[in-house]
Amino acid sequence: MEILVREMKERDILSISKLHQECFPTDYISKKDSLTWIKGNYKANPRFVYYVAENNKKIVGYILWIELGGFRKEAVIELEQIGISEKMRGKGVGTILIKKSIKQFINRYIRPRKIELIKITTSNKNQAQKLYKKVLGAEPECVMRGIFGGDELIMFTRKYN
Ligand SMILES: CC(C)(COP(=O)(O)OP(=O)(O)OC[C@H]1O[C@@H](n2cnc3c(N)ncnc32)[C@H](O)[C@@H]1OP(=O)(O)O)[C@@H](O)C(=O)NCCC(=O)NCCS
Repeated sequence: MEILVREMKERDILSISKLHQECFPTDYISKKDSLTWIKGNYKANPRFVYYVAENNKKIVGYILWIELGGFRKEAVIELEQIGISEKMRGKGVGTILIKKSIKQFINRYIRPRKIELIKITTSNKNQAQKLYKKVLGAEPECVMRGIFGGDELIMFTRKYN
């Protein structure tokens, strides 16, 4: 299975919004909300940068990287969201998307600066934390209680470069 990872283009907004609705059904009220959310993030480049995973020219996943606290000498970045289409899960697409997109993100938007820290938050119950540990070496840092209808785990990768 060939997976191409590239930065998103404006024409991808609708596909990403459809995946956003599929992967995060509690994160929006109407489809229009989802679309407005993705459009707003797209317009916030270079603070927010989406990458997509394509298989046979079809978008099967997306990831959103953001930079926190200003464009600092030592960048603090966050893996804000990742979603893979249901049919394509468990086949290594998420792993490929994280690995390839972070390289592209660093090359285009961070270099020659270094990364101080990578932050990732996910529901305390979400098994995706295993993925973040495996692919980015992220470790649990603390838990935010009572947010988004549950508890949210914050993970940090303190050494990446
Ligand atoms: C989380 C998600 C992005 C993972 O993508 P994926 O393409 O299925 O991940 P991979 O196939 O690369 O799996 C990588 C590893 O993580 C584990 N993993 C990832 N998500 C998992 C899940 N939901 N349940 C159990 N294990 C999971 C896999 O077991 C795998 O480990 P292995 O390689 O040792 O077998 C995908 O399941 C998804 O889109 N979920 C819905 C949205 C979501 O919860 N996003 C994350 C929160 S922001």
